[in-house]
Amino acid sequence: MDLFEYQAKDLFAKHDVPVLAGEVIETPEAAREVAERLGGRAVVKAQVKTGGRGKAGGVKLAADPEDAVEKARAILGMDIKGHTVHRVMLAETADIAEEYYVSFLLDRTNRTFLAMASIEGGMEIEEVAATKPEALARIPVDPIDGVTEAKAREIVQAARFPEEVAGQVVEVLQRLWTVFIEEDALLVEVNPLVKTAEGKIIALDGKVSLDANAEFRQPGHAALEDKAAANPLEAAAKERGLNYVKLEGGSVGIIGNGAGLVMSTLDVVAYAGEAHGGVKPANFLDIGGGASAEVMANGLEIILGDPEVKSVFVNVFGGITACDAVANGIVQALELLKSKGENVSKPLVVRLDGNNAELGRKILTDADHPLVEQVDTMDGAANRAAELAAK
Ligand SMILES: Nc1ncnc2c1ncn2[C@@H]1O[C@H](COP(=O)(O)OP(=O)(O)OP(=O)(O)O)[C@@H](O)[C@H]1O
Ligand SMILES: [Mg+2]
Repeated sequence: MDLFEYQAKDLFAKHDVPVLAGEVIETPEAAREVAERLGGRAVVKAQVKTGGRGKAGGVKLAADPEDAVEKARAILGMDIKGHTVHRVMLAETADIAEEYYVSFLLDRTNRTFLAMASIEGGMEIEEVAATKPEALARIPVDPIDGVTEAKAREIVQAARFPEEVAGQVVEVLQRLWTVFIEEDALLVEVNPLVKTAEGKIIALDGKVSLDANAEFRQPGHAALEDKAAANPLEAAAKERGLNYVKLEGGSVGIIGNGAGLVMSTLDVVAYAGEAHGGVKPANFLDIGGGASAEVMANGLEIILGDPEVKSVFVNVFGGITACDAVANGIVQALELLKSKGENVSKPLVVRLDGNNAELGRKILTDADHPLVEQVDTMDGAANRAAELAAK
């Protein structure tokens, strides 16, 4: 889970990383009072989960509270790389002498943690890495030892931080490491870490990504979730314990059992869709091992609730859950949805194979539901589903 800058800043403050005071607002008018509290001058910063806000005009300096209202008005509602700005943070202004870059992340390739640091921060670090790789120090961090003072010194030396800030940066690195470990983060990035005119080191920006696998031991993190931004269908699926993922620009809803089968179904549908004007999968839902009528009904309800879905491909390979149970699940699910008053009007293409496939197919044939069509092969069914979606 990626955090907003203001949330990252809160985590930094919690672990004593030096940050500037700031507050989040959602209306331009609210900026006046906050700017007054911050001493008049303020930086107004778009809170969106994407980089390059400054370049896009999402970071502006306000000279006084009136100006802060104007700047907030200009930034709120702005679109930055497809992200609408719903909140801005007003922060104290720093008198910047130098801008640096530091981060900790998980280095999957090398099965370790990695520290990155550069004294050429501020701009996009990807650009520094591409054009001047020697200016970006990369130091592996042993997960057991962590960032000791000695390791922090090694990072500071490798990145050639100026002597006069070395002590402070060593300390800040250790505190950022505490954020990384204690909050179960996958990324902690500060760009820029600044030296102020008075020679003080402050984190002016923060990007933190938290490890969802650690949710069970981080009860405080649930509150950081951006509920408003979550796709409502994804949220509904999560509530029912289903794995549902919305995809961009497609029209075939996909239900399958097992992640592997579902993934290959996506490929097969996208491939078959080429012959029908570029039809693509709209979403996918993995009903997992069990496919009771209830699970199937929940799954169908979610898939059919996606307005972009024009047809549904149910692709099941019977294993422990046999195809007759799945077929009964489909029949009962359609009944259940009808009795709930749901308007089920999108065609379903069903392919059953594996354990008790014959029996499953017979159940669907006998039920003779007007919206359900059976195709025996995966490729054939994908083609039919794409064809129906193209209509
Ligand atoms: N509190 C502040 N006081 C003075 N200048 C600031 C302050 N916050 C940011 N700036 C200036 O604005 C620049 C951009 O800010 P910031 O790093 O937060 O956004 P960004 O880098 O454009 O966005 P992103 O990090 O999402 O790519 C900084 O490099 C810094 O020069
Ligand atoms: Mg930045």
